[in-house]
Amino acid sequence: MKFFVDTADVAEIQDLAATGLVDGVTTNPSLVAKAGRNFVDVVAEICDIVSGPVSAEVVATDTDGMLRQAHALRKIAPNVTIKLPLTPDGLRACKTLSDDGTMVNVTLCFSAAQAILAAKAGATFISPFVGRLDDIGQTGMELIADIMAIYGNYPAFKTEVLVASVRNPLHVIEAGRLGADVVTLPPGVLRQLYGHPLTDKGLAAFLSDWEKTGQTIPEV
Ligand code: E4P
Repeated sequence: MKFFVDTADVAEIQDLAATGLVDGVTTNPSLVAKAGRNFVDVVAEICDIVSGPVSAEVVATDTDGMLRQAHALRKIAPNVTIKLPLTPDGLRACKTLSDDGTMVNVTLCFSAAQAILAAKAGATFISPFVGRLDDIGQTGMELIADIMAIYGNYPAFKTEVLVASVRNPLHVIEAGRLGADVVTLPPGVLRQLYGHPLTDKGLAAFLSDWEKTGQTIPEV
């Protein structure tokens, strides 16, 4: 399972990349607005830190405009992945860019039917938003199960399932159970994955018992 970080906060990415667990990054216009910095500068800095796919989203809504913005964004770094909305225009742009060998992340997916369209359009990644479905009373992870089952029926579909709008560690565990290819994690959720009270308790006990031995481990 690949871990992407879902943020445009460069300091957070720097910090989390040091764990060696970060395979890529996703941004969106809301995250860029929150970061309050120049979009191109932010994407360039992220691409310097993380060598895996870094999603940068277009804001045009027509195919030609999306393609123009995609060409500009692609120039930032070779690992830029163009993020396109799941609309008819977005999927037309997806087909053109994918045929051209450009990585594309199709975003704002809320149904299995949409995920089928994205795979047929050659998307590198499909991003179903599980948290936003949970928010309206639908179980987001059921959508992941459906997409995994459908894509599994068609080996010709090369699109990777990128679980997005992740809100808690249970989303990550369930994504793993279903065999999803990627989860994109807000920094706080990635840090939450480490925690367990029995780990803290066990470590405190080991260190306290070690202290009683009066020994040290020799430096080499
Ligand atoms: C992923 O690519 C999206 O940017 C993100 O996961 C959306 O998450 P949200 O629903 O918490 O805004």
